[in-house]
Amino acid sequence: MLVTKILLLNLFAFNVFALNIARNEACGTNMDLKAKYHAYIDTLNSDMPPGSLDQYIKDGVKFNDFKPLSPAECIANVKSVKADLPGLHFAVDWLILEKDQGSQGAQGFANLAVRANISYHPEPGKELAFWEHCFYRFEEGKIARAKSVVDVWGLPEKDQAIARNL
Ligand SMILES: *[C@@H]1O[C@H](CO)[C@@H](O)[C@H](O)[C@H]1NC(C)=O
Repeated sequence: MLVTKILLLNLFAFNVFALNIARNEACGTNMDLKAKYHAYIDTLNSDMPPGSLDQYIKDGVKFNDFKPLSPAECIANVKSVKADLPGLHFAVDWLILEKDQGSQGAQGFANLAVRANISYHPEPGKELAFWEHCFYRFEEGKIARAKSVVDVWGLPEKDQAIARNL
């Protein structure tokens, strides 16, 4: 009888444990948001087909002091910078993630700080790079606000203003 009880208790404990894991995976643990951010960067590095940023960016995202943007407008902005800086490529250098406490964190509410190396080819065979430092606010697993400062030190003057639009 006692053995059965212990067995049942263990089974119960294991199920609660397994349920919690499943719930965390569904809603966004630390790993999930990191993976999601990397997938976002992969998308920026892709051809960015229509709708490709919808799963990463909240409609009406506040980016620096721009007016609220739709994911489609974000795609248009990055594409216009890519047109001026050929071969534009984003690579994550540092990533620091701080989830909100409790269930908020599990639901994808978090602060994320990233330093990214952004490179491009001003002409074939030549590569230049600059840095972006960006603080993101994630809500429900999507970017809701972002404050970014780019370090364009060392870029040709004509490219500096373009790079600052990122
Ligand atoms: C930035 O990225 C470019 C392209 O991948 C690379 O060549 C360069 O070494 C990187 N710079 C630093 C300081 O990591």
